[in-house]
Amino acid sequence: MPENVKSKNLTDQELIRRIQQLKSEKNAVLLAHYYQVPEIQDLADYVGDSLGLAQKAATGKSDLIVFAGVHFMAETAKILNPTTKVVLPDLEAGCSLADSCPKDDFAAFKAKYPDHIVISYINCTADIKTMSDVICTSGNAVQIVESFARNQKIIFAPDKNLGGYINRVTGRNMVLWDGTCEVHDVLSTEAVINLKLDNPDAKLIAHPECKAAVLELADFIGSTTAMLNFTKTDDSKRYIVATETGILHQMQKDSPGKEFLIVPTDETCSCNDCPYMKLNTLEKLYLCLKNEQPEIILNDEVIKAAEVPIRRMLDISKKLNLIK
Ligand code: 13P
Ligand code: SF4
Repeated sequence: MPENVKSKNLTDQELIRRIQQLKSEKNAVLLAHYYQVPEIQDLADYVGDSLGLAQKAATGKSDLIVFAGVHFMAETAKILNPTTKVVLPDLEAGCSLADSCPKDDFAAFKAKYPDHIVISYINCTADIKTMSDVICTSGNAVQIVESFARNQKIIFAPDKNLGGYINRVTGRNMVLWDGTCEVHDVLSTEAVINLKLDNPDAKLIAHPECKAAVLELADFIGSTTAMLNFTKTDDSKRYIVATETGILHQMQKDSPGKEFLIVPTDETCSCNDCPYMKLNTLEKLYLCLKNEQPEIILNDEVIKAAEVPIRRMLDISKKLNLIK
């Protein structure tokens, strides 16, 4: 097999060495989401949640952005850095939420509500971003929605669980697109209840992409970074964690004396790996840095139109001190 397809069965250690070397030779920055495998998180120049990663991408000064995450995240980095090459280790690393919202269907949906603005969760394609007034992430969604007048009519897309959560917290009545995250939406309420009964001292922390029944039981609801920060400062010693398993790596690093119990999807599976996030491997990361592909390509018009609502989100977040 040629080396650009298979990297001669290199050991992980050798892959890590080569990735570090290529990163410095090419003045590349490696951005990684918390749902990446631990080896990739540990190699990254910056590891964060969607908000942190978007902010980091907006302040980039590198010659090459390697995005260890999923496609919509790498697209966002490209939109914010149109003249920089952006690569993703595996182009198949998509997202069920982004896939749930095809552009023609969304255009027809939007046309039914001509007096509504559109707030889209960053987990959507660049095409959906071009049809949005402002973007949000789970780290700023409530505040972005609250930055609009109470009588402002709003469509929220594509995550109905996050949208429903914001409606409940803010007392709004946003029209919701019917999309879900295939990882969070299937976390079992029964398993949460059983874990709570078996571990009465453990606090339940949950991502707002979980369904309402799980969120209702939670002691804390927040984005990936918000959950991490909560477990660092909170005085409990044990947590039931309702989100993707990748977060446990940082939680355990940040709070070595604490115990984290992951909520399973059902009795047969105790892992909640996002199948798209986990497509990225050390080997694919190495090849991607070496060959500078697969590259994210977007046309200029899409980039220009999609940049507006992303910059609006970053501006609102800065004004509200949610980011620096
Ligand atoms: P955050 O990074 O905003 O917590 O979102 C989690 C997620 O599902 C990313 O795909
Ligand atoms: Fe998409 Fe869910 Fe995977 Fe995040 S965890 S990338 S929302 S499928």
